Amino acid sequence: MVPYEPIDWGGKNVVQDQMVNLSLIPNEEFYQEFERGFNVVNGDLTSATYRALVNFTESVNYPRHRWFYYREGFSPELVNALIKEFDVPEDGLICDPFCGAGTTLSVAHERNLRSIGFEVNPFSAFVGQVKTRDYSEKELMLLEQVITELVTNEFDYEVALPENDYLTKIFGQEMLFELLRIKEFIIQIDDAKVRDLIFLSWLNSLEPVAKYRKAGNGLKIKKKANKNSALSPRDQILHQMNSTLEMIKVDLASTSSFRTEPIIYEESAMDMHQFLQGEQLDAVIFSPPYANCFDYTKIYYMELWMGDFIKTRSDQKDVRMKSVRSHVHATWPTRYENYYLSELHDVLLPAVRSQKLWTNRIPDMLKGYFEDMNVVLNNIYKALRPGGSCAIVVSNSSYGGIIIPTDVILAASAKNIGFTVKEIEVERLIITSSQQYKVTEGLRRFLRESTVKIQKPYET
Ligand SMILES: C[S@@+](CC[C@H](N)C(=O)[O-])C[C@H]1O[C@@H](n2cnc3c(N)ncnc32)[C@H](O)[C@@H]1O
Repeated sequence: MVPYEPIDWGGKNVVQDQMVNLSLIPNEEFYQEFERGFNVVNGDLTSATYRALVNFTESVNYPRHRWFYYREGFSPELVNALIKEFDVPEDGLICDPFCGAGTTLSVAHERNLRSIGFEVNPFSAFVGQVKTRDYSEKELMLLEQVITELVTNEFDYEVALPENDYLTKIFGQEMLFELLRIKEFIIQIDDAKVRDLIFLSWLNSLEPVAKYRKAGNGLKIKKKANKNSALSPRDQILHQMNSTLEMIKVDLASTSSFRTEPIIYEESAMDMHQFLQGEQLDAVIFSPPYANCFDYTKIYYMELWMGDFIKTRSDQKDVRMKSVRSHVHATWPTRYENYYLSELHDVLLPAVRSQKLWTNRIPDMLKGYFEDMNVVLNNIYKALRPGGSCAIVVSNSSYGGIIIPTDVILAASAKNIGFTVKEIEVERLIITSSQQYKVTEGLRRFLRESTVKIQKPYET
């Protein structure tokens, strides 16, 4: 069986996008006119409020949030600020339909608010779950005991290499065997919550001991040797696991028990209505995948396959098919086609279609992305209580020099559904070197990351 290749070729080819047809390229007036009806705050970025908070880097300073570095996550500070801004009541219910590693849910948990999340990537959902559980004194004592066993165990289990050649390439055979032996020890831990904590630390050790690292949309070979490469494979893994486990112990000792644990569904945000069972949401805070060709089953390839979250090519395909159409690694059957927005369908998509791109699937991906997001916005509208608020942290993208203003498109879709669009708060510009030379001067300010804030009216 040959699994999907995890290595990233997209990044190289994106640079080869060519702006070939100038006549269809939307000009500055088009973008200005499109966003005119909305309150765009900080378009000049002079005082962007959440600028530093839309990425995960701050999370390394927060207990529990730092147990796994989820590159695509946002910061707990951002969620805290939005919960305050939205005036969520003490017994309120918060939802994150794309909960990733659970930042929104963890913050809700810390604030004793009820919360519900949806996530199609089983590895990410696992991280979110482990971070937001309560652990008893007894479980903490057991954790100590198991850690002692872990460091003294000889791990002489018989293990077979998985039928996935890429894993041998990613870790090297000796390291892979050692990882699998330690995993065998973990699987045999009786207490499920303690087992999951240790398993998380093992998953967290994978990238540091691998020959590849996460980069762009996939994995790239590391140029430098790993930090502890002088140690034996076993000691390299245990060293990494230990540093996560130390963090976990410190954090669990310093955080008290909470009133309520989040509910996380390993389901698509497009199906969320089937699981909410008539619950009314007070606030929805999320960041969806961006329309940037990133495929989370490629980025988390190591964790998904090594952690047995996906065991076959067909499992991987299932996750891809359930995900929002933000990448080109699957071909979906037609779905949700009854969505139309003139600026998107009559201007932006024909313009993108007229360019020579690294893959001709991009226009259909974009069309599908906004169809899927429109379904999610409709679901949110139905589930929110009247007066309930929603914040969407999203980034715009660019193909062949044509900017896709995702923030304005989502705001326009939300408005058509019946939401009041409060503001589009620009957080930062996101010009990358490959995009820089293609995007003309006057348009660069539209290539940005923003928070779109919408509200369900009180009277509907
Ligand atoms: C930008 S990340 C969210 C990160 C999250 N805010 C955090 O701080 O951890 C987007 C997430 O959406 C997930 N996703 C993609 N399609 C989905 C779908 N249809 N339903 C639910 N989650 C989905 C991806 O797996 C990814 O974890």
